[in-house]
Amino acid sequence: MEHYFTNNQNLKSEIRKINYTFESTSFVFYSDLGVFSKDKIDYGSRLLLESYLDCNLVKRRVLDMGCGYGLIGIVISKMTDSFVTLVDVNKRALHLASRNIVENNVKCETFLSDVYSEVTDKYDVIITNPPIRAGKECVLNILKNARDYLNYDGELWYVIRKDQGVKSINKLLENYYKLDIIAKSKGFYVIKAKIN
Ligand SMILES: C[S@@+](CC[C@H](N)C(=O)[O-])C[C@H]1O[C@@H](n2cnc3c(N)ncnc32)[C@H](O)[C@@H]1O
Repeated sequence: MEHYFTNNQNLKSEIRKINYTFESTSFVFYSDLGVFSKDKIDYGSRLLLESYLDCNLVKRRVLDMGCGYGLIGIVISKMTDSFVTLVDVNKRALHLASRNIVENNVKCETFLSDVYSEVTDKYDVIITNPPIRAGKECVLNILKNARDYLNYDGELWYVIRKDQGVKSINKLLENYYKLDIIAKSKGFYVIKAKIN
C-alpha cells in the first residue's frame, strides 16, 4: 500500500499550488501527488504552526521534522527570521520543500533523513506534525529522541489528535519532558515539551 511517506519513482506528478497567509504575509506552496495533505493545508499543521507563532516571534534554530512540502518550517523562518532545517524521508516532499524555500525567499536548508539518522546539530526548537501512519514506533522515535537534538532549554512542539492516541503518547513522554498543552481544537492537541 502506498503511503505519503514512501518513495515511489513511478508516481506521476500533478503539481498544484496552495496559498497561505499569516497575518498580512502571503506564502505560496507547490505540492504534488504522494505528499501529505497535498491539496490543502492540514488543520493540525496549521494549528501547530499558528500556536507556535502566537508564542514565539523570536529568532531561533529550528528543526522541522517530517517537513512535507515545507509549510511549517518555511512560515516560521519568514515570520521569525530564523534559519530552519527541514528534513523528511520522502524525496518528493523534500524536493517540493526546496522549491518552496526559493519561492518564499527564506533562509532554510533541507536534507533527507530517516527520523534523526542524518541529523547531527542541536536545535532550540524541534517542531513536528508526526507521521502517525508510519506507526507508533516511528512517532515515538521522533518525539522521545528529540531530547538528544535539543539545546539546553530547548523545546519540542508537536500536534496529535485525540483519536490518534495523544493521551497515551503524552503519558509516555512525561517520563522525559514537562508537557504543556498549548492548544486544543477539533480533537487536535498542540503540545510543548521541555526536558525535565
Ligand atoms: C503528518 S506529515 C506532516 C508534513 C508537514 N510537516 C505538514 O505539516 O504538512 C508527516 C511527515 O513525516 C514524514 N515522515 C514519515 N516517516 C518519516 C521518517 N521515518 N523520517 C522523517 N520523516 C518521515 C512524511 O513523509 C510526512 O511528510
